[in-house]
Amino acid sequence: MTWLVTGAAGFIGANFVHLMLQTRADCRIIAYDKLTYAGNLENLAGLDEAYPDRYSFIRGDIADTEAVEGVFAKLAPSVVINFAAESHVDRSIHDARVFLETNVVGSQCLVDACRRHWLVDGTWIPGKKYIQISTDEVYGSLPADGAFSENTPLAPRNPYAASKAAADMLVAAAHHTHGLPACTTRCSNNYGPYQFPEKLVPLMIRNAQAHEPLPVYGDGKHVRDWLYVDDHCRAIAKGHRQSHRSRSAGPGLQHRRQQRAGKYLRGAQAHRFLAPNNR
Ligand SMILES: NC(=O)c1ccc[n+]([C@@H]2O[C@H](COP(=O)([O-])OP(=O)(O)OC[C@H]3O[C@@H](n4cnc5c(N)ncnc54)[C@H](O)[C@@H]3O)[C@@H](O)[C@H]2O)c1
Repeated sequence: MTWLVTGAAGFIGANFVHLMLQTRADCRIIAYDKLTYAGNLENLAGLDEAYPDRYSFIRGDIADTEAVEGVFAKLAPSVVINFAAESHVDRSIHDARVFLETNVVGSQCLVDACRRHWLVDGTWIPGKKYIQISTDEVYGSLPADGAFSENTPLAPRNPYAASKAAADMLVAAAHHTHGLPACTTRCSNNYGPYQFPEKLVPLMIRNAQAHEPLPVYGDGKHVRDWLYVDDHCRAIAKGHRQSHRSRSAGPGLQHRRQQRAGKYLRGAQAHRFLAPNNR
């Protein structure tokens, strides 16, 4: 089975590609990535040589209809998993435009390609699946004593979250209108190898190592839920067998950043949070 993995050079995408190649001998991976500031080919280093028949990389934009069409026409993926996104909240507050282009238009562009290639004479070819990787940020702020579920109303609070919610709605619309075989996951914060250094956990580790201040957002009392990236990737790998619905993924353990910051930074395990090339 051929999987088109978009955003494969980013944090979660790269972890997913490694996991799939290591654990699913029957899968062939097309890693597709625009290589923005957040994409790092080093995250996929060595896969060409290790899996010459099962892995290939293509540099491209998910919002480029022609490029996406070329991939579908040539390589006929059976599963599309869309990790590609502009994903940094602070950047979206500064300038939201590229978030709409990639997260909203790009997702629609992938969905359209699935429809063009998988829907034949009004019938979807069996075994196809589109997986949209969304975020629990579409639910807005978590109350101190609460937890999100798939039924929590959408209430995005920043342009990044709003663009992800818009993409979720477009995927759901394609499912309801055309019958697109799709699954949307809304995961909590991930941590683990290959994460871009501007994100909270690697940033804290780096600053601590450099004896620099640890920046805590607001009063530090925001509630966050954390999931190890490998657990997330394993859940996604199973998700492609599910029928259409939105799945939220998280350990259900909310932690105040203030309390956790110290814990993450203690001990010799800190290197687990950084990509091998960033250690
Ligand atoms: N990191 C988290 O904690 C977290 C939590 C929940 C959900 N998510 C979601 O998971 C997905 C992956 O997140 P991440 O942390 O790995 O992000 P990331 O920023 O590390 O990686 C994003 C990747 O997408 C690529 N990309 C950006 N625009 C593109 C485009 N137009 N076309 C093709 N590729 C493009 C980048 O080059 C990069 O490699 C995102 O959709 C994000 O919303 C992330």
